Amino acid sequence: MTALKNDRFLRALLKQPVDVTPVWMMRQAGRYLPEYRASRAQAGDFMSLCMNPEFACEVTMQPLDRYPQLDAAILFSDILTIPDAMGQGLYFETGEGPRFKKVVSTLADIEALPIPDPHKDLGYVMDAVSTIRRELSGRVPLIGFSGSPWTLATYMVEGGSSKDFRKTKAMLYDNPQAMHLLLDKLAQSVTSYLNGQIMAGAQAVQIFDTWGGNLSAAAYQEFSLAYMKKIVNGLIREHDGRKVPVILFTKNGGLWLESIADAGADALGLDWTCDIGNARARVGDKVALQGNMDPTVLYAKPEAIRTEVGRILASYGKGSGHVFNLGHGITPEVDPEHAGAFLRAVHELSAQYHE
Ligand code: CP3
Repeated sequence: MTALKNDRFLRALLKQPVDVTPVWMMRQAGRYLPEYRASRAQAGDFMSLCMNPEFACEVTMQPLDRYPQLDAAILFSDILTIPDAMGQGLYFETGEGPRFKKVVSTLADIEALPIPDPHKDLGYVMDAVSTIRRELSGRVPLIGFSGSPWTLATYMVEGGSSKDFRKTKAMLYDNPQAMHLLLDKLAQSVTSYLNGQIMAGAQAVQIFDTWGGNLSAAAYQEFSLAYMKKIVNGLIREHDGRKVPVILFTKNGGLWLESIADAGADALGLDWTCDIGNARARVGDKVALQGNMDPTVLYAKPEAIRTEVGRILASYGKGSGHVFNLGHGITPEVDPEHAGAFLRAVHELSAQYHE
């Protein structure tokens, strides 16, 4: 494999010294970019982009070609590929978000769910990873990802997005054994899926626990964190002579950082509701931190974006262990020029915090 030309993202995740704070953006390939919208129109729809490795590679590269400051690429795909491979029938209704043809409601439904084989059932994702790695040819590291078992379970039980997770919460409290069986199957599926991505060339992996923060403190431990721990314990942590860092991102998990830091991952993703300096004091040397600018700051003018970047860098303070990111995905309405101003500000303003 080609040597990495820019490895500051991997170095920061392992708290090794860097020249400037590395930066990438969740959802960096997406609808705010006109070139993404053009590729999607050409492919037909979103899932066709994901399922065709050439298209997935093309849109993964778009933000990197536009913004030379980006220190990482992220596989273009979706977290819902796993439930789709389990036979749920994923589709996207324009403007409606994800939907499933089949919904998981009973213990019998859960018992019938297969554990997908990443190569047979999700081969298009493995092919996308190896295609992107070849195209990157060492420019920056490639991030692989998956949803957390809890987050995937919410989509499978609700049949799509939800405001209150009514069916999923009812199942959790009425029938915890059934919920545990579903989460256990998902944890096995996620572990082999991420290991498949690592073997195909992913150089770091992130687990998106988008809806973990919607649980009670006790339920978070039992129904989300426990399964992420299980996954972390089953992951390949070194490949091709390099560590493969693992990032856990629980949106709205700020109250539980100490216990998330004990899960065995290398880094925690932070949303914008916590102060990153305070988070650093709480997790100590255990993990690196990734985040955490409110994505809506990108609606403001470049001067205001720069001020906010400076505030977050100052709050984290000196030394490695910080990967700059947004606290959640960039939104479709953001002006691409503002995203550029954000990325430039991170590199320009962060040199003073590194030796
Ligand atoms: O970060 C990246 O650039 C990589 C690509 C990526 C996508 N989805 C592409 C996408 C990643 C990492 C995801 C993860 C994902 N998918 C999550 C977890 C992260 C998060 O945002 O909390 C979740 C919950 C999903 C499920 C999902 N996929 C939803 C709810 C939606 C619709 C939301 C929306 O913005 O409309 C999607 C679709 C989706 N996934 C799009 C993209 C670029 C938009 C599809 C389009 O082009 O119309």
